[in-house]
This record gives sequence, C-alpha cells and structure tokens, in this order.
Amino acid sequence: MMNIEKIRDEFPILGRTVNNRPLVYFDSGATAQKPRCVIRLTEELMAEHNANIHRGVHHLSGRMTDMYESARERIRRFIGAREREELIFTSGATMSINLVATAWSAKYLRAGDNIVVSEMEHHSNIVPWQLAAERQGAELRVLPFDDAGELRIDLLPQLVDSRTRLVAVTEASNTLGTCPDLKPIVDAAHSVGAVVMVDGCQGIVHGGGDVAQRGYDFYAFSGHMLYAPTGIGVLYGRRELLESMPPYMGGGDMVDKVTFAKTTYAPLPLKFEAGTSNFLGAVALGEAIDFVESIGVDVIEEHEQMLLRVMTERLSQIEGLRIYGTAKHKCPIVSFTVDGTHPYDVGMILDKLGVAIRTGHHCAEPVMTHYGISGMCRASIGMYNTVEEVETLARGVERAVSMLR
Ligand code: ALA
Repeated sequence: MMNIEKIRDEFPILGRTVNNRPLVYFDSGATAQKPRCVIRLTEELMAEHNANIHRGVHHLSGRMTDMYESARERIRRFIGAREREELIFTSGATMSINLVATAWSAKYLRAGDNIVVSEMEHHSNIVPWQLAAERQGAELRVLPFDDAGELRIDLLPQLVDSRTRLVAVTEASNTLGTCPDLKPIVDAAHSVGAVVMVDGCQGIVHGGGDVAQRGYDFYAFSGHMLYAPTGIGVLYGRRELLESMPPYMGGGDMVDKVTFAKTTYAPLPLKFEAGTSNFLGAVALGEAIDFVESIGVDVIEEHEQMLLRVMTERLSQIEGLRIYGTAKHKCPIVSFTVDGTHPYDVGMILDKLGVAIRTGHHCAEPVMTHYGISGMCRASIGMYNTVEEVETLARGVERAVSMLR
C-alpha cells in the first residue's frame, strides 16, 4: 500500500493553488511533477559541482563525469539493457527517434523498402519515419487499431514483408492509454530481419522497459515524464546496430581523431553524444529513477491502476461522455469528449477549478482522424493523484457540461 500523503509531500508544487483552488494535476502524461530530491539535487549540482564532463583533468570535471556515467549505468539497470554503451543520452524521445530515423535509415533504408508504423503513434514516432521514407524513397505502411484502441495484430502478415526494414510502435499510447502486446510485433519484424523502434515515453513510467529481454532493437523515452527535468532523454540501441550506424551529429566529444583529411569517431556511446550533453539532467534522471524505485514500480502501478478504474467508472456515469481507448491493458490515461461541448471549453472551465488536463489532438492527429474528431480531453494520472482528485475532476466535468450545453 502506498502512503499517498507522504508521497504528495515530496512534490512541492502540489501544495500550490491555481485560480484560488488547490491544484489538481492530471497532466502527468505531458510532463510529470518533480519530487524534492530531484529539485534539491539539480540545485546542488549547479551550486557545488558544475563542470563539463569528459573534458578536464580537474577535480570537478572528473567528479561530474563519474556522476554522469553512473547515471548511465543506473538507467541501464532500470530499463534492462545489457551494456551501458547501448544507452545514448539525448534531449528527449523526439531526438532519440530522429537520431535513429536519420542515422539508421542512412545505412539500412533503401528505395523500395518499407517501414511500418502504428496508427496510434505520437507524431514523434510518425514524422521522422515519413521524412526518412521520403529521403530514401521507401514506403510508409500503417498498422491500424480498432475502435477499442487495440492494435490490429491480425493484419501484421499483410503489412510486414521481406522489404520491411523497421516497425515503429508505442509501448503505451499517450492518447488511448493502450499498452499493446509487443511480442507478436517484435516476432513479426524479426522474422523478416526488420528491427523494432519502441516509443517508451508513457510506457517507462508504467512498468515498461526490459528492453533486452523483450527483444527491442531501439527504445526511446524522455526524462520529464519520469519525474526528472526536461531536456534529458535516452536512446537505447542494440550495440551492433549503433556501431554500424553513422554518427547523427558532428561536434565535440564524439570524435576519436580530427584532421581536415579525415575524422574518426569515438566508441559508443560518445559517438552519438556530440556537444555538451545535458549532464545535469542525466544525473537528475538517475535520481528520479532512484525515487521511483524507493517507492516501488509495482506499488505505484497498483495505485495508478486503481485510480484508472475509479476514473473510468466515475466519468462513464456522465451523460454523453465518451471514453476513447478501452483496451484490455491500459496505462492510466483517460481521453474523452462530451456531447455538445468542445474539449477546449471543458479544459478551460476545469482550469478555473484548479484542475489541469490536456486538450487537443495530443500530438496524435491520426488517432483523432480515426474517430472523426478534432480533439479530446485527456486526464493522465501520476503517482501522486488521489481518489478525491478524481471526484474533483468528475464534478468539474459535470459543471462544465451544465454550463456549456
Ligand atoms: N507527448 C506528451 C503528451 O502526450 C507531451 O502530452
């Protein structure tokens, strides 16, 4: 059982008011709030330890380098990668996926090949593949989902063939909440020699990862949804793939030897970490993971799944409210519309009541197109939410509906 009051105490922002109401934060899928330990450490790093990594013989540089590389090892354990060299620090999942879409595609994608992406992807796991396909003259294929939000795994044999080079899929949909069974997708891709790019942004917060054991070839996530600061993310890639790919960006720290005639590159992981990395963010991400593990991934998951059930049941009682995404396995995200209201108006009235949700297309326009709508309201749950907050949200939606209809 989780001591929810104790956990809430760790998040200072939860003590503030918005529009003279206590903040009720249901937008953790967009970015999670930060615990005191992460805030404290970030300040301490800047106040007492700041120095660039991998560059100096001086005390501070050496110490910061150790902290940065320890964070890499910490994160490796958390996501279940085999080797620390398989983890690249990036600015976030978007950069991680663009890195693969650029560097991997340059090496492996050719005219006439195809890439399969699921219909429920965030734009960051669609657009980089469209760009890559255009550049290389490849085809983009779409693995659809049904109205419940389950991926149509049965269509894989029609979509994945001998010219498929990569399948891009989410571990948990940021809009529908669906956690698809990735095993048949990984198996289908591997059976034709294709690789799998998994977007772990929402998944890693809700028990995802285990990348080596599950056979993912690439895995991307952002720190800020995992209670760490913005501007830090991770790309996991299998060593052989990363080693065979050309660098993504050129610059300092990613080289072995530079001459005007020829430049050779640093070994992994630095080959893909040109420029000064967000070393403060990387160390803070390690701290955020320690915090999550000190509570327990399973304990958090149990609490959030309980809230998901309560929220789904309570919102379903509201007349005219439709929930999008009723898959069997869901992360704690509830997207909905209410007949006769616009999502923005609902969101704005909730905001007046101190309740923060996300409204719009959630950077997943194909999901909106699937249902023939332009936007949804989305309530996404974090470890610090409570049953009382779910009730505040539901009453707020009821109030919005009575005002707007
Ligand atoms: N991709 C994030 C979300 O779903 C920002 O809100």
